[in-house]
Amino acid sequence: MARATEASRQPLAPDHGPGVDPSKAGAPAQQSWLKRHFPFLRTRRGIIITVIVILVIIGGGLAGLAALPKKNGSSGGDAAGGASADTITDDGHFYGQSPPVYPSPNMPGSGTWADSLSKARALVANMTLAEKVKLTAGDSSNTSCPGFLPGVPRLGFPGMCLGDAGNGLRTTDFVSTWPSGIHVGASWNKGLTRQRGAGMGGEFRTKGVNILLGPVVGPAGRVVLSGRNWEGFSIDPYLAGALVFETVEAVQGAGVMTSTKHFIGNEQETNRNPSGDVQSVSSNIDDQTMHELYLWPFQDAVHAGSGSIMCSYNRLNNSYGCANSKILNGILKTELGFEGHVVSDWGAQHAGVATAMAGMDIVMPNSGSFWGSNLETAVKNGSVPESRLDDMVIRTLAGWYQLGQDKDFPKPGVGMALDLTKPHEIVDARNISSRTTLFDGAVEGHVLVKNIRSALPLDKPKMLSLFGYSAKNPDTNNPTGGISAWNFGASSWNYTEFTDGFFGTANPAGSTPIAAGGTLYCGGGSGATSQGTVISPFDAMVQRAYDDGTALFWDFNSAEPTVIPVSSACLVFGNAYATEGADRRAARDDYTDGLIKHVASRCNNTIVILHNAGIRLVDQFIDHPNVTALIFAHLPGEASGRALTSILFGDVSPSGRLPYTVARNESDYPVVSPDRPSGAFTRFPQSNFTEGVLVDYRHFDAKNITPRYEFGFGLTYTTFNYSDLSIEKDGNASLFAELPTGPIQQGGQADLWDVLVRVRATVGNIGSRYAAEVAQLYVRSPGSNQPVRQLRGFEKFGLNTTETKDVEFNLTRRDLSFWDVEAQKWRLPRGQFGIEVGRSSRDLPLVGNFTI
Ligand code: BGC
Repeated sequence: MARATEASRQPLAPDHGPGVDPSKAGAPAQQSWLKRHFPFLRTRRGIIITVIVILVIIGGGLAGLAALPKKNGSSGGDAAGGASADTITDDGHFYGQSPPVYPSPNMPGSGTWADSLSKARALVANMTLAEKVKLTAGDSSNTSCPGFLPGVPRLGFPGMCLGDAGNGLRTTDFVSTWPSGIHVGASWNKGLTRQRGAGMGGEFRTKGVNILLGPVVGPAGRVVLSGRNWEGFSIDPYLAGALVFETVEAVQGAGVMTSTKHFIGNEQETNRNPSGDVQSVSSNIDDQTMHELYLWPFQDAVHAGSGSIMCSYNRLNNSYGCANSKILNGILKTELGFEGHVVSDWGAQHAGVATAMAGMDIVMPNSGSFWGSNLETAVKNGSVPESRLDDMVIRTLAGWYQLGQDKDFPKPGVGMALDLTKPHEIVDARNISSRTTLFDGAVEGHVLVKNIRSALPLDKPKMLSLFGYSAKNPDTNNPTGGISAWNFGASSWNYTEFTDGFFGTANPAGSTPIAAGGTLYCGGGSGATSQGTVISPFDAMVQRAYDDGTALFWDFNSAEPTVIPVSSACLVFGNAYATEGADRRAARDDYTDGLIKHVASRCNNTIVILHNAGIRLVDQFIDHPNVTALIFAHLPGEASGRALTSILFGDVSPSGRLPYTVARNESDYPVVSPDRPSGAFTRFPQSNFTEGVLVDYRHFDAKNITPRYEFGFGLTYTTFNYSDLSIEKDGNASLFAELPTGPIQQGGQADLWDVLVRVRATVGNIGSRYAAEVAQLYVRSPGSNQPVRQLRGFEKFGLNTTETKDVEFNLTRRDLSFWDVEAQKWRLPRGQFGIEVGRSSRDLPLVGNFTI
């Protein structure tokens, strides 16, 4: 629990705040959530058709229908059941676990935001109370924008469209299918990430989407089987932070605001929303872990200027994420100096006055039962000061000005047709110049982890045999109108299971591990990308084989296919599916592993390709002597097939590195499965983050566990040599004060970004092919409660054979500090720091140190 005390805290109310009525929590907002996600539900006819379709699809009769309004990630099996004598039934039990921080700070208007603040103030000064209240909640529109903020036409404000999500625009046509977050994380490429952000931002803008609902840095990936880990970049806060920084700057550079999400501790899908008398799971995170792990990438997003932050479904230290004054008023709006607005996740508001006072600014998808006219009443009777309401609207409009959306921005939602199956205006948002980024992005997220007997690259193979369900496209790539698998990246998965999970009746055992109906371009849920002209691995292989005169055979159905013995190589394609609304059942699957072993026992050159939406264990087959190569192909987006064949045939060298650790066994990880309601906490599920900062490689290092493939690992077709480490401390002694003293700007105290130490090394390509290397720097810190080592720098660059490069890493004050819970600041410790530079978190040939 947070140990610090802050003078500024004024305990105005218990941090669950006034207005909480858990019995009401969620239900009306969830109905509206459906209408927002599925606008056709607004008409009687649409509702009737939908009801029939759902009955047919789900086949579950009225029971399935009754589950529909309960949009949450908890399973039916998670319901509390009977309360025993010691079952906690009163939320008051938890009061004070998340410290109250009031009042909510007004938008600071620092730096470049000053002008936007004064413009927004002037606009708001002309608004009536009713107009201001209207701008705190979503409303209906005749677009497919999942969120729509209404306009105030008499003042020239046209409203705003909020569109999913962080990996490309969902539920529409004429957009690109970008690589997903985990794929971008595996690229370790800052420049490419920036290009992707600019490309995505341009598409959102053309479609009239003012706010991109992403990028995702929460979940971070604490729970190996969490359903949404693939939406974000990496479990490592530094890697995620560097890539979210690039993404936010680039998307916003294209004029579209980012709503970085989900703030914070949203680490599992199970019990993510209340269900019956069971509340959302509480992520219980201590203050140091909060800052060093979960907040870190959000801090980078705020530092990059993210104009919006989405508060999350879960409770944080037993106070709902969107009513938690410590994280919204305290950490986000005070400590990080956040200039923008906080928008609720869809249906994540469970209190009225309390959310207003805790710092939430917009509720989505609509005002539900808590705001709207109730907020107006609360302002009139003084429960919510009008200055708080003003600040909500000012923050939103200042962002609109800051992004230049007051000038020449397309009409909100102009390219977001309500129903793609009806005649609609074509707004083609794709830009031909993005094709290179889409291709490079797809290539660079593939991670080659095994390659023996020179299996790869393929050398003019005479005959190739292809197996496995993840090689080809699913049979349909077609929006059907209504609740469509296509809208949610579920075309090749079990659609009934998808809707069950999305609407709150997920199988308690977890979701089916594979998408058996075809290859994966993204995962499932609101973070899915729209799939247009996608090229599967099979499509690209056929073209390639034809051009090269290679004989090709395939069988994508059989679990035990016939294998032609004279095949030059056998390629087995499998996947690991993950989706919003449910957590995964397992990190391995016997069907795919059995298929691989079957082929490997008949083909002495078996190459495995796994499209994995999360960590996938491989120990059931990886040591088979005939498994000669393994590629984690992640979620590549539309260029999937072209990228893969380019790697397989050696047109490009693979350059991805794992953004997570692959263990030998599940038990090697600190946390594999989601927490569930239990014991006295059946009504208030608890998730205690007792492992602190020791997740992923930090845990393996601390416990001395040998992973199968370590964080940062990835092979290529050449060899890199490391030499000449040098470490230079800045000559200005005043930079090394123990505590930062700078003013608070976006992201926190300005001097947290001062560069204190520069590390240089030389990297040379001593192999025989051009390839890109990811040079990685890890720090061993003398600070309090620090892991063995932490990533604090990485640079990716291409080298020709015999070429060398001097690479430089800049270490900032924040990089070298730990979060001091007593001082409530980042403290630069005294003592000796270790520096390690190399190819992965366990291959670090250059070692040095310096002392502060
Ligand atoms: C998801 C958000 C998403 C929103 C709007 C929610 O269910 O958690 O990530 O942006 O829906 O579709």
